[in-house]
Amino acid sequence: MAQNIIAANWKMNNDEYSSKKLTYEFLKLLNRKNNPKTLKVLCVPHPFLLSIDNMCTGTESVFVGAQNCSSFKQGSFTGEVSALMLKSLGIKYVIIGHSERRDFFSETNEELLNKVLRSVERNISPIFCCGEPLIFRNKNNHLEYVINQLKETVLKLNKESFQKVIIAYEPVWAIGSGKTASNKEIEEMHVAIRKTIKQKFGSSVSKNTSILYGGSVNAINAKEIFEIHDVDGGLIGGASLQAQEFIDIVNSIS
Ligand code: PGA
Repeated sequence: MAQNIIAANWKMNNDEYSSKKLTYEFLKLLNRKNNPKTLKVLCVPHPFLLSIDNMCTGTESVFVGAQNCSSFKQGSFTGEVSALMLKSLGIKYVIIGHSERRDFFSETNEELLNKVLRSVERNISPIFCCGEPLIFRNKNNHLEYVINQLKETVLKLNKESFQKVIIAYEPVWAIGSGKTASNKEIEEMHVAIRKTIKQKFGSSVSKNTSILYGGSVNAINAKEIFEIHDVDGGLIGGASLQAQEFIDIVNSIS
C-alpha cells in the first residue's frame, strides 16, 4: 500500500519569524490529533530548513523537505544548493520539477532527471511534480504529455532508486488558480500514472508509489479529492500557509 502523504509547499513566502510562527501553530494543532499513518512534509525555503526541522523534531510523522536542489554534485555553481548539503542537514525530501521551476527557471526534463539522480543518490526522496498546461488538456493530449514527462525523468531510474520517488500530479492550470481538476480528471490521470509505473517496474512497485494531487486543494475540497481512487495525498501550496486550514486538510485524509 502506498503511504499517505500531505506535503506543504510554502514557496517563497514569509520570513523566518512568520515561518516559525506558522510551524508552531501547525504543531500545536497537530498534537491534538496526529495520525502517524499520514506523513506530513513541510517543504520550506532553504534558509529555514534547519530551524523548522529542529522545531519538528520529536513530532511523529512530520518531516521537513526542500523545494529544489542542484542538478550538479558540487563545485563552482554560485547560489546553488546541492543534495549533499540537504543530506548533511538531515533532509529527507525535496520537491523537484514544480511547474514554477519549469516555467520561470526553464528547467527541462533533462535537467530534472539530473536533479532526481542527485537526490536519490543521497537517499533523499524527490517529490516529483508533473502536470499539463491547459493547452494540452484542451487538445486532449494531457495523458500523453504527463506520461512523457515521467518517461523522460523518473522512469529512467533503476527500480531501486525509483522506489524513493513520490509523484505529485499538478495540472498547471489548477495551481494557485482556485480551479481544481474534476474528480474524473484527477482519477483518469492518477490511474494512467500508476499503470505506466506498473508497466515499467511491476505491480508491487506501482502499488507502493505515492501519487499526490496538487492544485488549489483547500480545507473544503480536500476530503473529496483524497477519496478518489489512486490519490494518496496532496501537495498543498496557498492553503498550507494558514495553520488551521492546513491542519483541516491533513485531517481530511483517512
Ligand atoms: P496551490 O499550489 O495549492 O496554491 O494551488 C500547489 C503547488 O503549487 O504545489
